[in-house]
Amino acid sequence: MEDNTLKITSHVTAQALQIMNEDSRETLARRRFSPEKIAIFNASHTSLETLHEYRFLKDTEAERLLPGIINNRVQQVITDPVPGENAKAGFSKPRNIGVVFSGGPAPGGHNVISGLFDEMKRFNSASKMFGFIKGPEGLLENRYIEITAGLVDFYRNMGGFGMIKTGRTKIDSGSKMEKALTACKGLNLDALVIIGGDDSNTNAAFLAQHFKSSGIKVIGVPKTIDGDIQVKTEDGKVLCAISFGFHSAARAFAQNISNLANDGGSDIKYWHVCKVMGRVASHLTLETALQTHVNLALIGEELADYVDQERMSKGLEQDGQMDYNAYGITLRHLSRVICDIIVRRAAFGKNYGLMIIPEGILEFINEIQVFITKLNKIIADYNRIHDLDFHRSFPTLNEKLDYLRRISQGMMDKGRFPIWNIRDDELFNQLPSFFREGLLVERDLHGNFQFSQVKTEKIIMDMVKEYLDVLREQGRYKVGILRDDYVSLMECAGMDPDLFAPALFKNPQDKYVLVKPDIISLKTLKLSLVNSGMLDTEEETPQVLVNIFRKSQAEFKIQTHFYGYDGRGTDPTYFDCCYAYNLGLTAFHLIAGGATGQMAAIINLEKAFDQWQPAGIPIARLMHLEERKGRLELVMEKSIVDLESNAFKVFKAVREEWVAACECPDRFRNPGPIGFSRHVEEDRPLTLRLNALES
Ligand code: FBP
Repeated sequence: MEDNTLKITSHVTAQALQIMNEDSRETLARRRFSPEKIAIFNASHTSLETLHEYRFLKDTEAERLLPGIINNRVQQVITDPVPGENAKAGFSKPRNIGVVFSGGPAPGGHNVISGLFDEMKRFNSASKMFGFIKGPEGLLENRYIEITAGLVDFYRNMGGFGMIKTGRTKIDSGSKMEKALTACKGLNLDALVIIGGDDSNTNAAFLAQHFKSSGIKVIGVPKTIDGDIQVKTEDGKVLCAISFGFHSAARAFAQNISNLANDGGSDIKYWHVCKVMGRVASHLTLETALQTHVNLALIGEELADYVDQERMSKGLEQDGQMDYNAYGITLRHLSRVICDIIVRRAAFGKNYGLMIIPEGILEFINEIQVFITKLNKIIADYNRIHDLDFHRSFPTLNEKLDYLRRISQGMMDKGRFPIWNIRDDELFNQLPSFFREGLLVERDLHGNFQFSQVKTEKIIMDMVKEYLDVLREQGRYKVGILRDDYVSLMECAGMDPDLFAPALFKNPQDKYVLVKPDIISLKTLKLSLVNSGMLDTEEETPQVLVNIFRKSQAEFKIQTHFYGYDGRGTDPTYFDCCYAYNLGLTAFHLIAGGATGQMAAIINLEKAFDQWQPAGIPIARLMHLEERKGRLELVMEKSIVDLESNAFKVFKAVREEWVAACECPDRFRNPGPIGFSRHVEEDRPLTLRLNALES
């Protein structure tokens, strides 16, 4: 453990130094906190029971590449009241267990390690644990530390993956798997536990296959704030409702966003545009919206399902044909949807608000998705064919664009239909350069597009601003004025409000009055007053009317925020502390029971704690073929927001209330800060609670 106490003594008194070196009370309390244990883990022995009733489809490629683990079944950890002598000895023999974090940090990771460590030591204090440093890279380079009780205690219930760091190195070749095996054999490991997301569990499956004959077990643990590791059986039974880390990240985002709601609802001049992390799926956005009741939250999965009804009926009316271009949303159309909400709120005096845009939204916008897929392939092909790196070969945007142009003109690959055609080139070049640069950004080591690097919110908000300008010109984007305010202003100026109201407003009797659409400037204001006989042509417009007109002028001011790395690094919630700790315990019992190629999971996570059931899920059965680096690869399938789920349906049913485009207060909700007592926060994600309700 690194010593991070301050040692500078000059100019600082000993007392001051002592104060500076004190840990916060929160940190001390977190280190002391013992998460609840599932009752089974108090047993002196457990065994693994195969649950034949839980079935999954079998991918033929998984069957071909992972023959040693493809026939694994779901196993649940059960108490073994009368273990035989062999079982006892096997269970409590001294073990060496390796552990590695993989991918982005997620709150709770240290608790997986502490659960695994505590259980390993409970059964045999001579057992040892080794942590590979900086993720799979440590495994390939044989860099590790021994994880000691002191180290575990220091990191209990703490956020981040600081204990052994993490990384995204992919173990994607036979030689890399051999290196990993050599490192594990060198430490005489009985098992390796990989704490990671979909790509890392993919690594775990391939390593389990490769290590099979060596006897070294490989167990995966579902980690990712994105919440996209969710497992259901063929017939819909939920086996893993969410990965650990999701709840804490969503709660951290929600707390920050709810602070913005306090500020924004007081200052009432900004739209706060919050991009929320989640590489592809919008689970985090959905949960954060459920926690905060923001005015607008976009769910990528819903946009992908979008049908432009107007366009569709036009096509049918004109020539009786379906217009297939009506399916899927475009960026332009999306900006219209956003503007509609801004304009509707403004009409009730609320020219401010909060919206959430999911980080991965572009994945669900057809026109952009086509670019991402094509560019993935172009970059991957270039790297493969030339054995060079596309981004090193073409470091500037212009060089990259030039390469694309040459492809579109058939200069790179004569005789073949170019993947990047002239139309692609034209459309791509119409995008602003920062966005083109974003779409060309370097892919991660797994071939994933790095959505976090793209200023998605900027491109969308630029289009929103543009369209709002049009609506303003058309007199459709105006701020509604409280009629009582109008009346008191007029009375203060000694003018009759009722006399002037019909000339000024399109709805003079309503609680919020809206200046007529054709009044868009001081000139048109005067014209309207003259035409309605309220003013002579030579007369000046009274100052009070000028002021009222100015109040109705809608300016669109935004503040953008990105909630990602901050929430990823937060300390875990009570739920994640307990969930991750019990995943660690489960991983140990899977290893002790002889399992490999399984992902530790807690069945019934969405239910009360006393119903939690530790289990192992066969990773090979969760794999499918996916486009990566321009090729189809066998990877663990990500789960996206299910539009038929209760959580989404509830969100859809209540979101119009959250828009609050009416004479009503805003509906913002304050979830409060993250704590690790179940008495101060919801004891699990709202998405899980809603999904667990009978539909
Ligand atoms: P994992 O899937 O590895 O858990 O990472 C999730 C995530 O936080 C995504 O939400 C985000 O897009 C990505 O990591 C950002 O990480 P990086 O900065 O390494 O691209």
